Amino acid sequence: MARLRCDRTPAWAQLQSAFAGTGASFDLRTAFAQDANRFERFSQEAPYVFADLSKNRMDAATEALLLNLAEQCGVQEHRDAMFAGDQINTTEQRAVWHVLLRNPALAPVSTAQDATQSGANLRAEELSKVHATLDAMLAFAETVRADTAITDVVNIGIGGSDLGPQMAVLALDAFATTGKRLHFVSNVDGHELAAKLPHLRIESTVFLVASKTFTTIETMTNAHSAKAWFLAQGGTDTARHFAALTTNVEAANAFGISTTFGFWDWVGGRYSLWSVIGLPIAIAIGAQGFRELLAGAHAMDEHFRTAPLARNLPVRLALLDLWYRNFHGFTSRSIAPYHSALRRLPAYLQQLEMESNGKRVDAQGDALPFGTSPVLWGEPGTNGQHAYFQMLHQGTDVVPVEFIAVKKARHPLKGHHPMLLANVLAQAQALMQGKVDAGGHKHFPGNRPSTFLLLDDLTPAALGALIALQEHRVFVSGSLWGINSFDQWGVELGKVLAKDIEPRLASGDVSGLDGSTAGLLARLRG
Ligand code: F6P
Repeated sequence: MARLRCDRTPAWAQLQSAFAGTGASFDLRTAFAQDANRFERFSQEAPYVFADLSKNRMDAATEALLLNLAEQCGVQEHRDAMFAGDQINTTEQRAVWHVLLRNPALAPVSTAQDATQSGANLRAEELSKVHATLDAMLAFAETVRADTAITDVVNIGIGGSDLGPQMAVLALDAFATTGKRLHFVSNVDGHELAAKLPHLRIESTVFLVASKTFTTIETMTNAHSAKAWFLAQGGTDTARHFAALTTNVEAANAFGISTTFGFWDWVGGRYSLWSVIGLPIAIAIGAQGFRELLAGAHAMDEHFRTAPLARNLPVRLALLDLWYRNFHGFTSRSIAPYHSALRRLPAYLQQLEMESNGKRVDAQGDALPFGTSPVLWGEPGTNGQHAYFQMLHQGTDVVPVEFIAVKKARHPLKGHHPMLLANVLAQAQALMQGKVDAGGHKHFPGNRPSTFLLLDDLTPAALGALIALQEHRVFVSGSLWGINSFDQWGVELGKVLAKDIEPRLASGDVSGLDGSTAGLLARLRG
């Protein structure tokens, strides 16, 4: 598979010229005035998601150059290699195969290249394991749901073993039918677990210990404390009250958990909500709902796999992201979900994009001469409007905003939803149009770009499609930048240093530490 880093393609130089020409001074208001069909030209349907890209600083000529860039970088070949299960995570020699978790059991595995019979056999074998595990996990979810003695489910996990299930459980609250309380404990900060325990009873609680590796210090510490609490309260039936979701079933058994659901090293932590890590989601919305979530994601996978680049939504979003990051120099993107159930989506997307693409070297280990992952941040609308939108409208930096709105409300309160929708439309409009007739403090420069993603309804399938869309967009950005989006070495150093520091907090030994760390450690002991 031939990959070419974006800055080494002919299209890159052409984009530089385009930016120096009309790109830098592009004005959205002029673009709309000159093109009555701009909305149609820059909007599109994808499965469950309608996207309006027209309020972005891009014309047809620039988009054509960006599409050439994608071709020249080998994005399609790279995508096909991911779907085929090739080891595209090259620093860890692993496949990146979360799409397989969404592949229907009976359909042939979706891949453009079926190069060898043995490759096809491997895919069929993995797919049958995927579905056997999925069936077992969903059967367990239904058992828990039907068990009236169980009132509380506590997921203990962090990063991908927390953010995905937590985000989805909140997002799909309208589909939660069991009446069980779902809790998420992630932080090693004992305040989190300690605040939960007094409200739990051993006979009515199930703890899910979610960890791909089953070595993550936060999760292990919380799991040990939960087990100690359970035993101290007289609990004995750990098989009933503890389950492990992990690729490391041996470690879970050694920990004393016999109810285990496994997955595979080719599922990255931040791509794992589709695996057994999604058990809390299945407990909340049921097996059928979980299958619908997978089906929505699969529909987006098929769109990504088969749509021509020019009508391929993840590709178009990633190309815009690159245009903003590497040509306009914008350093962040604000996520504005206008739906309170999507309140953990910004946090989820932070891990997805920043852990995937926050890299300073390319796949060969060579330093990159251009910027990679933007900072992602945001809050649900309309709350953000009364906090930081001032900066978005009148600050010195341009921050592209991604609005996410849902047409249908699933509550009976009159008047709220039209008001919410009016606000999201108005914010996108205000950012673009500005208010140029007013001077001084009341001047809004406008020409501030935004993307608008619209769902008809926040169903399990629509959420699945929305998340798969984001995964694939991150894939394409990383592909263009020539990086490995699937490792996360950057989180390791802090883990190693924490291990060294922890015993020093007890002993007071500051030898070899820098002055600041030594000084702070002494104050913490004092
Ligand atoms: O430290 C980062 C990380 O490895 C994430 O990539 C991952 O989602 C998280 O920790 C949790 O890892 P695990 O599921 O193995 O406990």
